[in-house]
Amino acid sequence: MAKKLLRTLAGQATWPPPVWLMRQAGRYLPEYRDVRARAGSFIELCTTPALAMEVTLQPLRRFGFDAAILFSDILMLPWALGQGLRYAEGEGPQLPPIRDAAGLRALDAARVAGAIAPILETVRGVRGEVGDATLLGFAGGPFTVACYMVEGRGSKEWDAVRRMAWSDPGLFGGLIDLVTEQTIVYLSAQIDAGAEAVMLFDSWAGVLAPSLFRAHVIAPSVRIVAALGARHPGVPVIGFPRQAGTMLAEFVSAAGVEGIGVDTSADLAMVRRDVPAGVAIQGNLDPLALLAGGPAMMRETEAILAAMQGRPFIFNLGHGIVPETPPAHVAALVAQVRAV
Ligand code: CP3
Repeated sequence: MAKKLLRTLAGQATWPPPVWLMRQAGRYLPEYRDVRARAGSFIELCTTPALAMEVTLQPLRRFGFDAAILFSDILMLPWALGQGLRYAEGEGPQLPPIRDAAGLRALDAARVAGAIAPILETVRGVRGEVGDATLLGFAGGPFTVACYMVEGRGSKEWDAVRRMAWSDPGLFGGLIDLVTEQTIVYLSAQIDAGAEAVMLFDSWAGVLAPSLFRAHVIAPSVRIVAALGARHPGVPVIGFPRQAGTMLAEFVSAAGVEGIGVDTSADLAMVRRDVPAGVAIQGNLDPLALLAGGPAMMRETEAILAAMQGRPFIFNLGHGIVPETPPAHVAALVAQVRAV
């Protein structure tokens, strides 16, 4: 197995570690902004294979990362299920919120295969172009996807979602089940199209009480990892239950993921102690340290590398790149990691 990232996900402590960054394609790159302007809308960009291929490959060309991540969005699954979706300029995603059984029934799983076809074409097209880099597919964790589907927009505390989870567990559980099933279909199709590993972004997992975390983060991840493992043996899964805190170790052992993404708030010495030695750890430089650059970024990067030496480790951020980030800081970061 030649590719560095796949060796790491197989449990080898390859050093220097492989490096890629969450949201490595995006508005901080002038060449992305050019293509984005040509596409018209963000959804148009995600569903036009030639353009989505181009922006997937841009960060690879510029920085030589060890992974390319499919250019798409976690909310393309609700979009494929027929829930309206738009990205309002400067306001983030907006969807008509699902608050009752009629809203859940209106979702149409029969639309998914046709709707995701252009995204799969992007995966097939990119696969031949990544060279030694690993092509990552992804989906949102069912809980995080359900957050946007219920709330209808971004939120910090997700009050409407947590209220529904407690007060109407049948409805919320039904939504989580539907999203989980469709996530398996979607990720399985990405792997068939050429994705070599997949990542589950559960960005809002950290807002849940432990009992709800077990029901809506761990249980769906167990199902997804088991189903993908049965259909695609040997294709690794990276979990990213962001801000899981004290639930992280339980997530890793229950879900059986090959890699675990950790957010900026996680102390790597503690993660190293609590996660089994064969599981690859991925993280966790503060995206704002990357924005700052200079000695602060370099010291923090050095500390992360020192904490992870001797472990299967994938250098990444603890959350996505912010749009104001100077590309020169990204180049300096990659050079530092490669020189270790
Ligand atoms: O990492 C990559 O480069 C691959 C592409 C990718 C995007 N979104 C592109 C995107 C991935 C993996 C995501 C995941 C995603 N999307 C998550 C999970 C990770 C996280 O950040 O917590 C979430 C919660 C979303 C939902 C989402 N999409 C939001 C909240 C926003 C608006 C915020 C923003 O930055 O504008 C988006 C839009 C989005 N997704 C953009 C990009 C490049 C910006 C859209 C634009 O170009 O106008």
